[in-house]
Amino acid sequence: MSTLTARGQWSSRFTFILAATGSAVGLGNIWKFPYITGEYGGGAFVLVYLCCIALLGIPMLMAEIMIGRTGDSSPSNSFRKLAKVDGLNKHWSAAGTFGVVAAFLVLTFYSVIGGWSIAYLGYSLQGLFIGRDIAGIDTIFSDLISSPLAVVGWHTLFMLLAVSVVARGVNRGIEKTVTVLMPAMFVLLIILVIYATTTPGFDQSVSFLFSFDFSKLTAEGILQALGHAFFTLSLGLGIMLAYGSYLGKDVSIARTAIIVSVLDTLVALLAGIVIFSVAFSNNLTPGAGPGLVFQTLPLAFGKMPAGQLLSIFFFFMLFFAAWSSAISITEPCVAQLMQRFNISRQRASVLIGGSAWLIGVLAALSFSALSHINIIGLSIFDFLDYITTNILIPLGCMITALFCGWAFPKEKSQKALGLSDKQHRLWILILRYITPMLISIVFISNFV
Ligand code: PHE
Repeated sequence: MSTLTARGQWSSRFTFILAATGSAVGLGNIWKFPYITGEYGGGAFVLVYLCCIALLGIPMLMAEIMIGRTGDSSPSNSFRKLAKVDGLNKHWSAAGTFGVVAAFLVLTFYSVIGGWSIAYLGYSLQGLFIGRDIAGIDTIFSDLISSPLAVVGWHTLFMLLAVSVVARGVNRGIEKTVTVLMPAMFVLLIILVIYATTTPGFDQSVSFLFSFDFSKLTAEGILQALGHAFFTLSLGLGIMLAYGSYLGKDVSIARTAIIVSVLDTLVALLAGIVIFSVAFSNNLTPGAGPGLVFQTLPLAFGKMPAGQLLSIFFFFMLFFAAWSSAISITEPCVAQLMQRFNISRQRASVLIGGSAWLIGVLAALSFSALSHINIIGLSIFDFLDYITTNILIPLGCMITALFCGWAFPKEKSQKALGLSDKQHRLWILILRYITPMLISIVFISNFV
């Protein structure tokens, strides 16, 4: 192997867990999970979501880490190597390729929202939300997204932060950064949760999240829960393939995947409790959709004693979560480019960062200067979100599931995962039949 593209290795299982959790915990947990829970009525949706994580998310996470570690290369090359050893079709590597393409596209618009999180952190520090009414809060938001200079500026800063970490490599870049970001994020979350328990809306928020009212659950809600389970664990993007390839051979994949999933779920639930407590305490409804974090919450913070401090904590937490996720989205793209063209990590990072930044600019401007452009009826931003979330990610997950369920030799996967016969049979059953079936249903229903 060329020294240019020498691969790194996590210094311990703990740092892998931090990095993988850093990837999993992101805007999906703090921004999206609470608002879709709000939209789909609370408790029953949460229960379905938890089942999806346990039944589908964890086995798929194990599959991706296993392929990455066993193949020990870039996302699509890991598949190709494994297929080659066992005389399988080399086109299985499409799963890795779809993943990397999807990751690249996700990076473009994730960076735009990541930029918003920095902007909102800035607003919190300035105390901009204090005493504002709904109209005032809406103005802050619409001023931001309609200002080309502001959105592109924050997007640029966010992209630079993500790419500069990845350019420094697995140990000196990613590992070092997540070792600071993740503990800080957890501390902020715990402070916010402790605060939430003292608010009048706390009981209502707990019962909103955990009282299972199935009458509110719709078929669409179930599909959302399934799609979000994959998204929140960062599956189908080659991320866990890339991160898994830096994992030592002696680490238990099953146990590690469970820890990462539990932490991710915990953060989503705790973030939900914080956000709903704050909203309910101020007589606001949590069903506001995507505006929950950028509109409802600032409105509430603006009215509360110590609201400014809380908003600073909150947006720091959001920014840290988004940053560590963006790092993980960049890594598979960079790893793939390094391996494919035999170039240095720095050069690959600049190429990926630069081109993703450029497309991101178009996405960022689709709220203002480019709002007239639409592709199949969607703005540039929504189009990128749509093709990745609804097409490329499910497709990548589907091929991965079929590969592990049908093609990859069972003895090998059992050994790599370190499962007992019974556990392994269950894992195969899920990846062979259940995951492909459910993904097909989601896939088809997205088009119908
Ligand atoms: N899992 C992250 C989240 O919940 C999102 C993410 C998606 C991160 C895809 C990386 C890749 O926000």
